[in-house]
Amino acid sequence: MSNEPIPLSKALASFDALWSPRIVARVNDYDVRIAKVEGEHLWHAHDDTDEFFLVIDGELHIALREPDGERTVLLPQGSLFTVPRGTEHKPYAPSGASILMFEPAGTPTVGDRHGDIPDHVDSTTGHALDI
Ligand code: NI
Repeated sequence: MSNEPIPLSKALASFDALWSPRIVARVNDYDVRIAKVEGEHLWHAHDDTDEFFLVIDGELHIALREPDGERTVLLPQGSLFTVPRGTEHKPYAPSGASILMFEPAGTPTVGDRHGDIPDHVDSTTGHALDI
């Protein structure tokens, strides 16, 4: 893990894979991850942790299945949102986005509960940043 400042633009330029987060920092037991996304992720839920999203560039939609029904939140660039633990969610970005996530180290991107994982989605707990 770097002990030097990390320009997010440089970090984002270091990889092209979609839905495949890179770990840019660790804060106590939490990872700060960045990802490039386009198209749909998959419905999943994290049973034991909230999941924080910040949109660096582009626009992210997050579909949510809540007790009162399904809704979608729209996060334009600069917006943040926390998905509560246990809530099924499906991020998607029709026009692409760069996002930052904050969650406990080791949290799987596809959650603890999910359906079939499509080929374009990387099932990972985050990859090391290579810059
Ligand atoms: Ni999630």
